[in-house]
Amino acid sequence: RRKIIIDTDPGQDDAAALMLAFGSPDEIEILGLTAVAGNVPLSFTSRNLRIVCELCGHPEAKVYEGALKPLNRPQVTAEHVHGKTGLDGAELPEPTMLPQEQNAIDFIIETLRREPEGTVTLCTLGPLTNIAMALTKAPDIAPRVKELVMMGGGFSEGGNITPAAEFNIYVDPEAAKIVFGAGIPLVIMPLDVTHQLLTRKARVEKIAALGTRPAQVLVEWLAFFERFDIEKYGSDGGPLHDPTVIAYLLKPELFSGRECNVEIEVESELTVGMTVVDWWRVTDRKPNATFMRTVDADGFFELLTERVGRL
Ligand code: BDR
Ligand code: CA
Repeated sequence: RRKIIIDTDPGQDDAAALMLAFGSPDEIEILGLTAVAGNVPLSFTSRNLRIVCELCGHPEAKVYEGALKPLNRPQVTAEHVHGKTGLDGAELPEPTMLPQEQNAIDFIIETLRREPEGTVTLCTLGPLTNIAMALTKAPDIAPRVKELVMMGGGFSEGGNITPAAEFNIYVDPEAAKIVFGAGIPLVIMPLDVTHQLLTRKARVEKIAALGTRPAQVLVEWLAFFERFDIEKYGSDGGPLHDPTVIAYLLKPELFSGRECNVEIEVESELTVGMTVVDWWRVTDRKPNATFMRTVDADGFFELLTERVGRL
């Protein structure tokens, strides 16, 4: 079983990722879940995270609250995609679970120091603020991380918040720069991959057919989430970004990519938050990431459906 910490800013696609993780207890041990400001402010992402834990039947899960805002930029949010609460689309009770007293940054540091070196995987589904703060406060944890699997960035697909940048990296590029420079083995799920995972009708119908409460709520969330892309681009559903991170832990063979160097632009006004991917190895910069570009979309949706069915 892989020990993981999930750092997240739910978000309907974050919720789908959490459901995939909670539905896979044979492979995954969730040590803790950390909330970060991202799609919506922290008060909402923390609340949403606890709503998802309860929906998945895990009120005992440990939820920690982290950074209120990016390292040194004003907060940018994405209510235009995720709704006012960040998790619009389904009627659910307010959570009864409370967040832990300890903050997310100290939880991440303590856990990495306590667990044997090279056994904890960090999974990030939002801006990298919490991870960067932990690395800055405790640089000794970097070599202890087994792997950091993130949703973020883009290469030939371009950006989804500016022409150059993907949302999670754009929101806190300075944090991303710290994480990309930390020497931790990175696996990146960029827009190039997630835009291949549209919530097409036939796929969502299979989730609906599970007939369980969590499945039904997920379908309602996805219906809200996908309307942005359908209305704006006429696409065949919304791109299911964040579950790719968990799917990689369960079935890495669904994805393919390349080891290469990826740097983060933090200065240029026009391209800030861009992931500069040396796909063709035109520099002598050392590879620091496995950058994914393709996915077996049917295999991915099969996995997601099967695991949501186990909740
Ligand atoms: C990322 O941004 C958020 O809106 C999604 O939850 C995902 O993590 C996609 O760019
Ligand atoms: Ca997210």
